[in-house]
Amino acid sequence: MKVTLEAVSSSTKDERREELLALYHTVGACRECPLGSLRTNAVFGMGNADADLMFVGEAPGAEEDRQGRPFVGRAGKLLDELLAEIGMERRRDAWICNVLKCRPPGNRDPQPEEIEQCKPYLMRQVQLVRPLVICTLGNFATKLLTGSSTGITRVRGRPQEREIAGLPVTLYPLFHPAAALRTPSVLEQLRQDFAGIPDLLARTRAARPAEPVLATVAAGEADPAPEPPQLGLFG
Ligand code: URA
Repeated sequence: MKVTLEAVSSSTKDERREELLALYHTVGACRECPLGSLRTNAVFGMGNADADLMFVGEAPGAEEDRQGRPFVGRAGKLLDELLAEIGMERRRDAWICNVLKCRPPGNRDPQPEEIEQCKPYLMRQVQLVRPLVICTLGNFATKLLTGSSTGITRVRGRPQEREIAGLPVTLYPLFHPAAALRTPSVLEQLRQDFAGIPDLLARTRAARPAEPVLATVAAGEADPAPEPPQLGLFG
């Protein structure tokens, strides 16, 4: 089934969450590219469906493919550690997903046509979660969302104001945690860049106050929304 990018609407948090759940099922049934027939599980994304912060990685690896969840291998453990160092936790504070929703065989690089096929799912996730800040992890996510071929080494740690899927977003390119696992100096830089996330979020929140109507709706939601049935992926 093809996903079309709808105009960004002023739907409520609950409506957006429901649409995200529908998108989860669409992605789970996707066979738009050959990776759909090679995967064990599609890896949709997980975390807080209403988070101000989103992380976009490259593609699922072997463990992610097995579990159907993003960043659950060694790179994911590092991501969780770096989040903990800044007082954050993936389920509560972020939405985590990838450019590709299915694992490329042997963890090879995503191919341009795979990225093109999968891109509408990522764009729809951006429209439904509505993050203020998107951290792109590594070259593939960074090049896709910045729309530039400039590599991660040159742009990492420097926020960029962009329009993504019709929404104003602060992009914050970061090294991929897998690269940090291989090279200690990259880990050090990634750690430094992570330390800038809370302040970046605070500045972005201050610059883009919530719309009055949506703020009222959110204020009325004293209880957290219930876990959707089928998954424990959404916080
Ligand atoms: N690397 C990624 O880019 N994404 C994952 O989900 C896991 C490892």
